[in-house]
Amino acid sequence: MKYLIGNHKMNLSEAELKSYFKSLKKIAKNSSNFVGVCVPYVYLPLANKMCKNTKIHYGAQNMFYEKNGAFTGEISADMLKDFNTEMVIIGHSERRNIFKETDELVNKKVLSALANNLKPIICVGETKDERENKQTNKVLKTQIKKALANVEAQSLNQIIFAYEPVWAIGTGVSATVEVAEKTIKFIKEIIAKMYDLQDLNKIIVLYGGSLNEKNGFELLSQSHIDGGLIGGASLKTEKFEKIINIKI
Ligand code: PGA
Repeated sequence: MKYLIGNHKMNLSEAELKSYFKSLKKIAKNSSNFVGVCVPYVYLPLANKMCKNTKIHYGAQNMFYEKNGAFTGEISADMLKDFNTEMVIIGHSERRNIFKETDELVNKKVLSALANNLKPIICVGETKDERENKQTNKVLKTQIKKALANVEAQSLNQIIFAYEPVWAIGTGVSATVEVAEKTIKFIKEIIAKMYDLQDLNKIIVLYGGSLNEKNGFELLSQSHIDGGLIGGASLKTEKFEKIINIKI
């Protein structure tokens, strides 16, 4: 079983998403994979309505860590739960880069998501410069350690990690299979070391960054890659279906 989770980012209208869910419902029904999609906040009520009694898992793309208060424009974990939201992407590189989210903020959001029974999808990844300067392992280690500060071992099975090299997101150039597999194994080893775990298979890490119907088979057939966080190729169900239906 692989996790195939779409990240719609700031795309699709309500009407488009309605027909999207109608098609995805059938696709998910016939799949043994975990099929999910993270939609803009305003469509969570629609997701709540349309994904009920289906095999589609849905989530938000962000949240704030405080319970309530004077935080104009923000959305709390409780608000997400009001619409039966299951997952929430935290620390996506677009949030880190465009909205200047820090590792400390990511950590607060992770702790709040876990306390509210949401599955955080924690994104980590290096930039092109960092990879070229051989900083990848150091950057990933810092991002992971900081994101998981004060997270208890028993919460690990509630977390999905996503390795998303920044240089591969939305560029059409995915990481090579070798790089993705090796880096994801490294991520699992860091987490295993932090929590004294023997079994790397207990840690779920997805690959994200230009994963599509063409390179999906190669990437998803790697043993440490537990699935994909898919942006562009998840926006049309015809494309997303091809990835969901890949037989490993
Ligand atoms: P992409 O985005 O598949 O369009 O590269 C992935 C992501 O940002 O989660």
